[in-house]
Amino acid sequence: MISFHERFPGITVATVSNRYATAEASLYGAHVLSYRPEGGDDLLFMSSASAFEPGKPIRGGIPLCFPWFGPRFDDPSMPQHGFARTSQWKVVSCEDSPEGSTLVLGLSDDHETRRMWPHSFAAALSIGVGTSLTVSFSVTNTGDGAFTFTDALHTYLNIPDIGSARVLGLEGADYFDRVGAGAPAASGDPWPRKRQDGELSFTGETDRVYLTDADRTLSDRKAGLKTIIKSDGFPDCVAWNPGETKGRNIADLGEGEWRRFACVETGAVFGHAITVEPGATAYQAMTIGKGR
Ligand code: BG6
Repeated sequence: MISFHERFPGITVATVSNRYATAEASLYGAHVLSYRPEGGDDLLFMSSASAFEPGKPIRGGIPLCFPWFGPRFDDPSMPQHGFARTSQWKVVSCEDSPEGSTLVLGLSDDHETRRMWPHSFAAALSIGVGTSLTVSFSVTNTGDGAFTFTDALHTYLNIPDIGSARVLGLEGADYFDRVGAGAPAASGDPWPRKRQDGELSFTGETDRVYLTDADRTLSDRKAGLKTIIKSDGFPDCVAWNPGETKGRNIADLGEGEWRRFACVETGAVFGHAITVEPGATAYQAMTIGKGR
């Protein structure tokens, strides 16, 4: 079952509930706010200090970064992570089936989006709530010329404590280390390239672009937590946690909450921009589920 109500001025939230799970998603930003498998904890983290106000991004859940990821190095006046997360999306369809429920939201270009990104597009974000959470993103080029975009599902995963969280599945992958780095280098690797040795643990500020689409697992062995993330069509994995110093300075993060999440994001970022020809559609998907 899917129902809608305006939780804050300008923020309408869809509540999805079925025998497998409950989830919430905001039409503002096409933003998944929570996903709770039946009888379990929320797999997603939400900041207790997040803004829920048109014009401001929501801190937690699954922000959608599109049509660019990170800052626009060519134009710093443009919003970080694109405009999708601060746009009002429309409901395209709601459906219940024996496997769960699916909500599809849509966004297309208008005067304001063309001012920031001069292209005609129709984007759809589909949120499938069942024994796992499947978020699919499609972008159709409705204009006359090809365009490119970068994007990410900037997933904030709920964890008891960052100190005991590990990410498995990135072993041996190359990554760009963005901590302390500014704009990307003009040629060659954009940031220092390193190789992941063993599991990823978060020992301080972490901001890395892993060049891999392998399945990954966020685990906390002490707490018995295992969250499995699979991606399709997203070539990169971004791992981010601000660490204590930066975490304290993030105004829309509750006190000490930097310890309570790890962002393990699926994306097509920086050097992996996706090109869409006129009339064509790019398709990507991510599935998150509880492991045993
Ligand atoms: C991550 C980036 O994905 O998002 C970080 O790699 C960034 O560099 C972080 O700080 C949070 O971004 P924002 O705009 O939501 O505060």
